[in-house]
Amino acid sequence: MTSLLLELDDVVVEYPAKGRGKEPFRVLHGVSLSVAPGETLGLVGESGSGKTTLGRAVLGLAPVTGGEIRFEGRPVSGLGRRERRALSKDIQVVFQDPYTSLNPALTVMDILTEPLLVTGVARAEAERRVQKLLGHVHLPQDAARRLPREFSGGQRQRIAIARALCRDPRLIVCDEPVSALDLTTQARVLDLFVEIQEATGVAYLFVTHDLSVVRHISHRVAVLYRGDIVETGDAAQVTEHPEHAYTKRLLLAAPVSDPERQAQRRAERLKAAAS
Ligand SMILES: Nc1ncnc2c1ncn2[C@@H]1O[C@H](COP(=O)(O)OP(=O)(O)OP(=O)(O)O)[C@@H](O)[C@H]1O
Ligand SMILES: [Mg+2]
Repeated sequence: MTSLLLELDDVVVEYPAKGRGKEPFRVLHGVSLSVAPGETLGLVGESGSGKTTLGRAVLGLAPVTGGEIRFEGRPVSGLGRRERRALSKDIQVVFQDPYTSLNPALTVMDILTEPLLVTGVARAEAERRVQKLLGHVHLPQDAARRLPREFSGGQRQRIAIARALCRDPRLIVCDEPVSALDLTTQARVLDLFVEIQEATGVAYLFVTHDLSVVRHISHRVAVLYRGDIVETGDAAQVTEHPEHAYTKRLLLAAPVSDPERQAQRRAERLKAAAS
């Protein structure tokens, strides 16, 4: 028996070759990591390193050709349709773009009741739960009657978070969920993620390219570099005293608000480039 929620064991993801005689395109080269119940694992790495692919593999949406993904100790690859549906209650997702991830033709009430209705919850009960959920993500009660386009980006992301929460998941895969928001809104939405975790014990696999975001929210951090995990550890440890050269470069590239630190970093970056 394991106390881990999610385990990736030497996971390989390959996309089929485009054209005959070509090699398949290997995006993840044997990735191992784990997430405990109630924990946030921040997954960082530059663009194209395979972060989204890793999240999609966990959701069963990417072609896993090697290794194993386990949820609560059970392999998730090769599940039948019924088991997969059961799992889709426990693992939810919040995407980056709050402008395309919500169906524009549906009211917020319809968007949020739909996942409940398809699992047999009665409409009155579903609507009652949705009203409560809107309160949890700090949206006004009258939000239920409105369409997604009548909300700001930050509010839409709250709707997406409410949708992910409505079936009481154990794990939410968050793929750059605050990257499209301005800094103040980012901070508020990140606080909401933390607050929800404290209230519900949900775990997050939190994908981001932004180290300040990852520092804010994660318990542990895994650094992905060209399809390999090059470093994992305690969030403060990895973001303040990185071991791996790639993590150090990533840190140097991250903007800082303190001008003095910034000047120092520019100097360090120059030195790193020269060596
Ligand atoms: N469906 C697909 N078919 C073929 N190749 C793909 C597919 N999806 C992703 N890739 C490739 O896999 C690699 C990793 O992509 P991925 O989207 O996981 O990166 P990422 O780390 O999320 O980047 P970003 O920070 O830009 O979102 C890229 O080289 C991409 O072109
Ligand atoms: Mg991505």
